[in-house]
Amino acid sequence: MRVCVIGTGYVGLVTGVCLAHIGHDVICIDNNEEKVKLMKSGQSPIYEPGLSELMQSSVSSGRLTFSTDLGAGIQHGEILFIAVGTPALPTGESDTRYVEAVARGIGAHLNGGYKVIVNKSTVPIGSGDWVQMIVLDGVTQREQSLEVAFDVVSNPEFLREGSAVHDTFNPDRIVLGSNSEKAIAMMEELYAPIVERNYSQDKSLPPVPVLVTDLNSAEMVKYAANAFLATKISFINEIANICDRVGADVNQVAKGIGLDSRIGSKFLEAGIGWGGSCFPKDVLALIHTAEDYGYETELLQAAVKVNKRQRYLVIEKLQQELKILKGKTIGLLGLTFKPNTDDMRDAPSLNIIEELNRLGAKVKAYDPIVSQTGISHGLSGVIIETNPEMLADGCDALVLVTDWQEFLKLDYDKMAKTMHHAIIIDGRNFLEREVLEKAGFRFVGIGC
Ligand code: NAD
Ligand code: UGA
Repeated sequence: MRVCVIGTGYVGLVTGVCLAHIGHDVICIDNNEEKVKLMKSGQSPIYEPGLSELMQSSVSSGRLTFSTDLGAGIQHGEILFIAVGTPALPTGESDTRYVEAVARGIGAHLNGGYKVIVNKSTVPIGSGDWVQMIVLDGVTQREQSLEVAFDVVSNPEFLREGSAVHDTFNPDRIVLGSNSEKAIAMMEELYAPIVERNYSQDKSLPPVPVLVTDLNSAEMVKYAANAFLATKISFINEIANICDRVGADVNQVAKGIGLDSRIGSKFLEAGIGWGGSCFPKDVLALIHTAEDYGYETELLQAAVKVNKRQRYLVIEKLQQELKILKGKTIGLLGLTFKPNTDDMRDAPSLNIIEELNRLGAKVKAYDPIVSQTGISHGLSGVIIETNPEMLADGCDALVLVTDWQEFLKLDYDKMAKTMHHAIIIDGRNFLEREVLEKAGFRFVGIGC
């Protein structure tokens, strides 16, 4: 099928590349000329495991092209994906101006044959109808009597950064929201190779469930899923804080409750809380939508509050260990909001750096991606070291901020010897206490 993906970020680029890989003819459109130039030269503008390789093979096969020309993209695609960003406004509301611009652009170029317009971006409830209205406005502004045929489908994305390609080929479900049977049929045809597990790790699995809903419900599924996962993490963090006080071990507690199939073991890792480009903004957007309709979301607000406090917990723990932080040097292991990504959006490290600076500490950091690429992400108040040994040298304490796999295998014996105080706060309960203690560290976890 002929597909146009508008917006080539973590979602759009991965979607475009994966759809081309399964045999579709895809054009990816972005209005960022530099990005498009980079992608045309065969390079991915984002770090995502496995993406570059798939991207290069799809480009070579001729099934994947890149352009800044929206008109050409719209002409090419029978299915048009909107995958632009929907960041949070200072009020917490979703900033839908990029979606609006794309919808206007589609209205300005739509012509001829039937198209399916897919909202892949996470958008406030009601955005499907809103996009339809903007597209139609654009069409009639051009020519009153122009007949166009299109339907809007909500197809929320559930991929995680760091495993985006894997998640796209192995989704837990595909949600399609629309009242158009024709549009749903085309979407089912598009996703058939994924539904049939042709690209799954485990081909013996049953087909991927496809849930067809109305537009509003599909949009709500996305927010409800992220809000639930974020609340689950805040819940275990609350339990961790109680564990700290009563002397229980939250890791054992998480195992104990996770074995209950009604609870499940995933997303029960206690630590410094959730960050990234989606949980924080999506929970706030849902809170805001509820307020618009006269409902106060006490549970979601509590989840946000717990999460905010959790980010500063490592500072409290540093103060307990070192007392005064003024004049001390603190080394951060990891900067990104989670491992296997270069994404720094709403990363807990940003708050930790800011607060340590405010308290007069010097902050150094080593992150496998940030240190390697040298891309500063606008970071300030932190010295980026190029390896973990240089990070440890002269530090009064280390804080593990991101659970990168390579942090399990560092030479902690060597690192401990070059520190003023061999203290480590494990903000993700990720390291092995015995290994660190054997290396001479005082080890402090979260709730354990
Ligand atoms: P992103 O910021 O990484 O990428 C957005 C891209 O859209 C950028 O490349 C930007 O240049 C481009 N863009 C903006 N306006 C444009 C326009 N008018 N025309 C063409 N291109 C334009 O965003 P993202 O992280 O990929 O997120 C996209 C959407 O998907 C958001 O709504 C987000 O909530 C949702 N989502 C993201 C993830 C994730 O893991 N990042 C997962 C699920 C859902
Ligand atoms: C999350 C969801 O998992 C995806 O399904 C969704 O598509 C995406 O948001 C989105 O809408 O953008 P992502 O933000 O990439 O994906 O990362 P997660 O793996 O969910 O982690 C989010 C944050 O929670 C990270 O900061 C992570 O460190 C933290 N986390 C996760 C915990 O603190 N504890 C856990 O047990 C799990």
